[in-house]
Amino acid sequence: MQRVAILASGSGSNAENIIRYFENRQLCVFSFILSNKTDAYVHERARKLDIPSFTISKQGFERGEALQLLKAYGIDFIVLAGFLLKIPENILKEYPNKIINIHPALLPKYGGKGMYGTHVHEAVTANKETESGITIHYVNENYDEGAIIFQAKCEVLPTDSAEDVAKKVHALEYAYFPRVIESLLLNRL
Ligand code: GRF
Repeated sequence: MQRVAILASGSGSNAENIIRYFENRQLCVFSFILSNKTDAYVHERARKLDIPSFTISKQGFERGEALQLLKAYGIDFIVLAGFLLKIPENILKEYPNKIINIHPALLPKYGGKGMYGTHVHEAVTANKETESGITIHYVNENYDEGAIIFQAKCEVLPTDSAEDVAKKVHALEYAYFPRVIESLLLNRL
């Protein structure tokens, strides 16, 4: 059974959605949820899901504390679900092609530093895009630049607000992220 860690900085709705999806699929175990924010709501979700959760600061990540935790739990695969820090070299080296991220836009557009959450959807509507979507990709040393694994699109109407786009993109995240993880864990992709 593969051991998976989920990293999240905020609400954690994707983390919860993924964990619930695998609840009756004996494919993997979610060993813990790790955040860089002590007050992230994802800790509350972890408590309700009976999953251990931890907080390690940005400095702690750089000092190798997160890698220590990942190894202590024998983690095989890392899922970033709304995690806002860059993954340090010490973890990238230990987990080649074993760390994936979801980005709420069609990379390479609307990616990179500062492009997260509503900032993405505001840029998409400001530029009058006719579509947006999600990108699931491998993580490398730069924000949102690893090899793309999967993309799904949604229509953006001229009347859509950033909030409207966010809702459509979240719906794609909840529909596809768990299934892409399942395929990767089954080595289908
Ligand atoms: C999602 O939109 C995801 O695409 C992005 O961060 C957001 C996380 O939302 N990486 P949540 O914390 O899972 O609710």
